Amino acid sequence: MINKKIKKILNKKNKSKIVSLTAYSKSIASILDRYCDIILVGDSMANVLYGLKSTHTITLENIIQHTISVKKGIKKSLLVVDMPKGSYKNRELAKKNAKTIMRLTGCDAVKIESNKKNYNIVEELVKSNIPVMGHIGYTPQFKSIFKIEGNTHKKAKVLINDALNIEKAGAFSIVLECISGQTSKIITKNLKIPTIGIGSSKFCDGQILVTDDMLGLSGFYPKFVKKYINLKKIISRTVGKFSKEVRNKKFPSNKNSF
Ligand code: KIV
Repeated sequence: MINKKIKKILNKKNKSKIVSLTAYSKSIASILDRYCDIILVGDSMANVLYGLKSTHTITLENIIQHTISVKKGIKKSLLVVDMPKGSYKNRELAKKNAKTIMRLTGCDAVKIESNKKNYNIVEELVKSNIPVMGHIGYTPQFKSIFKIEGNTHKKAKVLINDALNIEKAGAFSIVLECISGQTSKIITKNLKIPTIGIGSSKFCDGQILVTDDMLGLSGFYPKFVKKYINLKKIISRTVGKFSKEVRNKKFPSNKNSF
């Protein structure tokens, strides 16, 4: 049985673009919820929040804790959660861990990265009523070099096949990460389910960015990231003001004292 929120996402295909961003906390999620169709608790929290070199060491507990917080800030968006590396190695483990995530967080779906073999995992989760979002192209859990994917005829064919297999396994959507425009266009045209692009051109059915990147907080700004604001600068200025006022004994004034 397809959940109502997922049906809404599926219905957007070829009608209106899907808006998606990442969140790791209630405070950010409650701002995003008004504007987003999908909020993703991404394992990008490893780099962005925990200062780790890769996403590989983020744990199920980390993901669950942050999702519990994010869920509190969401009223209407579809809440998707990344399954951490190693948590979906085989069908039984994937089912056990995905069920734990769903039960403890109340999220709507999980996302798993493709290693071009794990279609049976998607199938198993979907069979157990766990909605799955796929993720192809640059998949940080399985690749160490960040580069454009699908930019030759041969590589494009592999990716198209990957996407079709994930759709066939029952996923309701697929993230296309760093895939060339032409290949993203072909994949999007050939799938019935929506594609959500990150660095994968305007041809996708929707777009996702890491929120800290587009807000200018993370310091990670590859070509596909549009920095909509420089929050780092704004926060720095504001904290500078606070620090000056404390040192000059201007804060707290009577107004902020009991
Ligand atoms: O972990 C994440 O934030 C992601 C997005 C980049 C799609 O997977």
